[in-house]
Amino acid sequence: MKTHNIAIIKGDGIGHPVVDAAWQVLQAAAKQSGFVLAGTEMPWSCAHYKETGVMMPADGIETLRKYDAILLGAVGWPAEVPDAVSLHGLLLPIRKAFDQYANVRPHRLLPGVEGPLRHGGFDILCIRENTEGEYAGAGGRVHQGTAQEVAVETAIFTRMGVERILRFAFAQARARRGKLASVTKSNAQKHSMVFWDEITRQLAAEHPDVEVTSYHVDAMAARMVTAPESLDVVVASNLFGDILTDLGAAIQGGLGFAASANLNPDRKAPSMFEPVHGSAPDIAHLGIANPIAAIWSGAMMLEHLGEKAAADRVMAALGDTTGRGIGTVPGKDRTDAITAAVLSALS
Ligand code: NAD
Ligand code: IPM
Ligand code: MN
Repeated sequence: MKTHNIAIIKGDGIGHPVVDAAWQVLQAAAKQSGFVLAGTEMPWSCAHYKETGVMMPADGIETLRKYDAILLGAVGWPAEVPDAVSLHGLLLPIRKAFDQYANVRPHRLLPGVEGPLRHGGFDILCIRENTEGEYAGAGGRVHQGTAQEVAVETAIFTRMGVERILRFAFAQARARRGKLASVTKSNAQKHSMVFWDEITRQLAAEHPDVEVTSYHVDAMAARMVTAPESLDVVVASNLFGDILTDLGAAIQGGLGFAASANLNPDRKAPSMFEPVHGSAPDIAHLGIANPIAAIWSGAMMLEHLGEKAAADRVMAALGDTTGRGIGTVPGKDRTDAITAAVLSALS
């Protein structure tokens, strides 16, 4: 039987219950479709850091490289480990080391979910650059603790990096409704963002069948609220994409619904699938985390692994569940109840 080997990193807080939920659903889907998902759990997390002094072992990346995909919950427990330590010790190095340059985040309402806009007609695919830009990590601090202290964090945009994310976004637009919104801030950032706009125009000439519009990120933030139906594929830099996808999550009913895939489109290294949300310390022990974002991310993993029929069945089961009013309102249904409803819809 076909076997896919999956590295599971639950991480911190609600990363645990939502990955447990997703894994149960994925196992049920695999059984129905006649393939095997073999999971190996890595305990890497802030708790692991407290025990060992590292978020993951020195050979963590090489360990992960052997797997067909990575399923991740959430990383971060700021009360005990500074976020800049935990995220730079685990999540961000995986995205960079495996060249997972396309962070794909769908924003649409599942059946029965109303969302704050009371507006059902949008279907947005955000494509976030995931390896460079504002998250490049170039910079430093000097004269620390003095009045002369300086902090520099330089965003890095390379032609290769910008071109490959834009090409990926053009291809997504072609496969969908043929519209691409490219997001920058080239009125204020006259080097990197003007560069991004130039490459957008160069590629637009190669894709006459795709309707391309450039937006400033501030205007895009407003448009996602006031006219989300006007958007199809939205492509943005790492930081702008981060912010816009929490906004996308909000309009689709909340972070509990926002899924993501960190793709290595060349398939030269594993891709990673995780909900957009974090560890949610405020609700971590209450049993009310919405597992839908993690389950949806799991469906994206199945699709990436070539198990499209199983992925479609998981998405249909999510739609059945929310269509029956289960899991639609944050905090109303418990994690276990939502998971049980998805499992029953699947069978
Ligand atoms: P968060 O996403 O954890 O939480 C924001 C708000 O949304 C909270 O009120 C939370 O209760 C709610 N929420 C999030 N997911 C939910 C779900 N599935 N069901 C119901 N409610 C949900 O963001 P934060 O509070 O800024 O960050 C907490 C920690 O997580 C920090 O350490 C942060 O750095 C980290 N973080 C990690 C990731 C990741 O691993 N990919 C993403 C975002 C934040
Ligand atoms: C996300 C998260 C991460 C990011 C953080 C935790 C570093 O917010 O996946 O959206 O900014 O990429
Ligand atoms: Mn984010």
